[in-house]
Amino acid sequence: PRPAELPQTEAAATRQLSLRMRPRRNRADAWTRRLVAENRLSTDDLILPVFSLDGENRREPVASMPGVERLSLDLLVGHVAQAVELGIPAVALFPVTPNELKTPDGAEAANPDNLMCRTIRTLKGQFPDLGLIGDVALDPYTSHGHDGLVRDGVILNDETVEVLVAQALAQADAGIDILAPSDMMDGRIGAIRDALDARNHQLVRICSYAAKYASAFYGPFRDALNSGGLLKGDKRTYQMDPANTDEALREVALDLQEGADMVMVKPGMPYLDIVSRVKQTFSVPTFVYQVSGEYAMLKAATANSWLDNDKVVMETLLGFKRAGADAILTYSAIEAAKLLRQMRG
Ligand code: PBG
Repeated sequence: PRPAELPQTEAAATRQLSLRMRPRRNRADAWTRRLVAENRLSTDDLILPVFSLDGENRREPVASMPGVERLSLDLLVGHVAQAVELGIPAVALFPVTPNELKTPDGAEAANPDNLMCRTIRTLKGQFPDLGLIGDVALDPYTSHGHDGLVRDGVILNDETVEVLVAQALAQADAGIDILAPSDMMDGRIGAIRDALDARNHQLVRICSYAAKYASAFYGPFRDALNSGGLLKGDKRTYQMDPANTDEALREVALDLQEGADMVMVKPGMPYLDIVSRVKQTFSVPTFVYQVSGEYAMLKAATANSWLDNDKVVMETLLGFKRAGADAILTYSAIEAAKLLRQMRG
């Protein structure tokens, strides 16, 4: 049977418009839609963020992120194995530092035997071909929940960069592939690049969270790391004002000059215009982070059957591709990879 029937009745025919161009022709069949599709999501585009825990055989659900769990390293290996089996190229690591190890100076961040470094060594040992991305920022390690050092209520820049460099080197020595500074201090990319090169880590890449906004969408992530309750004040003196676009381009330009190999925009869905402008302006690998609050928002709606989970997951991820993202950090990476496998047969 012919799809997309034009009106057949006499009466309907008299209402036929004389149109030479009918955009609906290219949408009339699944096979044409496949041929003319401009963007495609692939498992190659996905990065899975994971939360690691100390101890053994520990599995703690994150209440505000249904389906996401904090896992001790023995269980994390099984979870990551699933990502590897599905063809996901990389995972982003977020260790849950016990609150008793958090201090004002976040010194645990640079401990070569901290949970982050142990997570890196465990996963590298098990999955040598999997890309490992390490967050560089102090908030998982500070007792005040800020990404940097604080004096008299001020988040210090240059002093923080020194600690970030030590944190980055500890991760590089442990075997990280990509360092992802998410702290938004000025000058940290150049400082980290110089320190890496001086230590013969020329191939360790830097993906800068170049345009990271002071967003309310990070709430569930801070629950996962137990850092939200600790946070004094907000992060608006270092993370970007959601009102700004040009400023994102200046941030990206600086980080590229300082040696970033890839740049990231974060959050994702409310900032597609930034993804698009960054990609068009710089033509560099541009990543986007569909953050915890975006995941929570979708899961809350789909749990109520207000939205169709599989469809909205795929639609939001395709939206990032359309905006120009090369890769997407998303807590839905495994479910998306499964759906992609089903679709491709
Ligand atoms: C650490 C960091 C944060 C996120 C990634 N790295 C939290 C923050 O900056 O407050 C958020 C990720 C998410 O919400 O999924 N600086």
